[in-house]
Amino acid sequence: MEIRIVVEDVTRVEADALVVNLFEGTTQPGGATGAVDRALDGVISSLIGQGEVKGKLGELTMIHTFGKIPSERVVVCGLGKQGEFDVDRVRRVTAEACRYVRSRGAKIVATITHGTGAGGIGPRESARAIAEGAVLGLYVFRRHITKEPETGEVEELIIVERDEDRLPELRRGSALGKVEAEAAKVARDMVNEPANVMTPTRMAEVARAMSADYNLECSVLGRDEMNEMGMGALLGVAGGSHEEPRLIVLSYRGDPSSDQALGLVGKGITFDSGGISIKPAAGMEEMKGDMAGGAAVIAAMQAVAELKPKINVTAVVPATENLPGGGAQRPGDVVTAMNGKTIEVVNTDAEGRLILAEALCYARHLKLSPIVDIATLTGACHIALGNVCSGAFTNNQDLLDKVLKAGGSVGERLWQLPMYEEYKEQNKSEVADIKNSGGRYGGAITAAQFLAAFVEDTPWVHLDIAGTSDSDKEKGYVVKGATGVGVRTMVDLVLTLAEG
Ligand code: BES
Ligand code: MN
Ligand code: ZN
Repeated sequence: MEIRIVVEDVTRVEADALVVNLFEGTTQPGGATGAVDRALDGVISSLIGQGEVKGKLGELTMIHTFGKIPSERVVVCGLGKQGEFDVDRVRRVTAEACRYVRSRGAKIVATITHGTGAGGIGPRESARAIAEGAVLGLYVFRRHITKEPETGEVEELIIVERDEDRLPELRRGSALGKVEAEAAKVARDMVNEPANVMTPTRMAEVARAMSADYNLECSVLGRDEMNEMGMGALLGVAGGSHEEPRLIVLSYRGDPSSDQALGLVGKGITFDSGGISIKPAAGMEEMKGDMAGGAAVIAAMQAVAELKPKINVTAVVPATENLPGGGAQRPGDVVTAMNGKTIEVVNTDAEGRLILAEALCYARHLKLSPIVDIATLTGACHIALGNVCSGAFTNNQDLLDKVLKAGGSVGERLWQLPMYEEYKEQNKSEVADIKNSGGRYGGAITAAQFLAAFVEDTPWVHLDIAGTSDSDKEKGYVVKGATGVGVRTMVDLVLTLAEG
């Protein structure tokens, strides 16, 4: 989909559908919506008068224009109460309006800049959110569906603006939003692929192809190199599968004058059966998405490479299956990570922290600092926070505050969970330095404490996206399946850190 910004009167723009808006409780629409209302002989205000259009958030009303203006249809979308309005609502209404008009066959969609009038949002933020909402909301994954789609695609989105002076900000905002959303789509595509397609090898190929297309450095370790490095925790998990594990490293050098680099580490379990501590059959197919953290960091690198901030960033993704094959590790096994720490594997289904521990060691070996990791790590986090927000953990509050701010500005909600010392008790082992499960209570936190033992003194944030990485319903710019969560947060964080 192409996004174009035009300086024009909304009543003159030619599109299959023109999206305007309304705050809840407005009796007489103003601004661009008011101009359209007048051009349509007051049809919008009379629908408001009849109580048919209320402006409630998510309300969509289609009006056919029958030649009164060049756009064939007008869609009035409700923005909800003005006092509750924020930039995330721009993403949401844009996504919902775009899907609505797509289902009616619209190929060219025009929209006014939501929120830049009474909404109090700047043109740049509005255009960024419109681009994100449209690109993410119109996302579909049909790669394995052979039947022709029933609805066409939206080919062009036109953002209509009256004020010429706002053009540069609108351009900047929509370009940024498009890059971020396209990156999130890359992550969604990877996560939505079945595990027989998105193997560790395939993940590495995606990273490799990206490095060629976007001028990144890429290196990939296989089983032999992992053996040489003493990556026993990663190899232990990989033992149960015939698929070769991969440790994927993707680097962007935007600040050659500095030897510091931000590390982004993502869990890449391409299928989590639980291993010998096998999971129940019901819902196990969802575990093809257990590489969502890894996909998010690889995808974020694409946006970083496109946006070219002045900072160095390196992504590290440990990728493997967790299967119960003949070479699988057993509950009770002791493995040694590359930093020499020994781990008692009391539950082979707590595999994410094993491979992440190894990747965190490797990130430290590469001297990456600070480090942000992202992982579909614990069912406990899903239980605690539902699918509304991801869990956030840290050993450095300043860093987490920046990550929380990044999440807030892109509409990916995060909630900090505590890291009290007492939680470490649960990870104590009788036979090794640490064990890989602290039991059911506080499971998201004990998992984070396990990771903390491997980052040592490097400033670090851990994001648990077990509840947010996929969605079983369509809502706003989230569609069914993979959400691509974390990509835009990490990109926003990178941009903020680059600004110093
Ligand atoms: N990949 C799962 C966590 C998960 C669960 C992600 C549901 C998404 C949805 C992880 O590897 C896992 O199995 N965790 C166990 C840990 C336990 C054995 C200590 C869990 O949460 O049950
Ligand atoms: Mn598991
Ligand atoms: Zn897992």
